[in-house]
Amino acid sequence: MAIRPLVILPDPLLKQASEPVRPDEPGLKDLARDMLDTMYDAPGIGLAAVQIGVMKRVVVIDVSKPRAEDDKLTEAEKDPIVLLNPEIVWQSEEMRVHEEGCLSIPDFYEEVERPDRIRVRFQDLEGQAQEIEADGLLATCIQHEIDHLNGVLFIDHISRLKRERVTKKFAKAARRDTAA
Ligand code: NI
Repeated sequence: MAIRPLVILPDPLLKQASEPVRPDEPGLKDLARDMLDTMYDAPGIGLAAVQIGVMKRVVVIDVSKPRAEDDKLTEAEKDPIVLLNPEIVWQSEEMRVHEEGCLSIPDFYEEVERPDRIRVRFQDLEGQAQEIEADGLLATCIQHEIDHLNGVLFIDHISRLKRERVTKKFAKAARRDTAA
């Protein structure tokens, strides 16, 4: 297992689309394991491969609630899903607003409106085609992660003013880190 460094805004990788994967690609299970380790360590509820610098259409998610708020999930509480090449095949007209965050934009949260229910098609690590219906937090999370695979961030769904403000803040922080 390995916790990998996170790709942080304004890294240009976050704006790029990721490539489809073949479930039998060598190293894919190790990649999924590392993504889960990195997500649980943060802790976060979802991670796309691009967020550890791998441009492949792989997403890991676990929306389980830790017993203690703001705590990491225990082994028994974990219920991970790995999605290869996920695709939304249906979405509800009803929308849902959720305050989103992103491990690539630390400590920034903003409300985003997305379809409340979705049906998503993907392959699992065994190469089986799967289709699940999701609502609520899981639906929000899957849509947020699929956006990552297309080079889209949740801040692309907020007002331009707020987006420019947070983008500037992170650009400044990155320059400071380079100078140090
Ligand atoms: Ni994110």
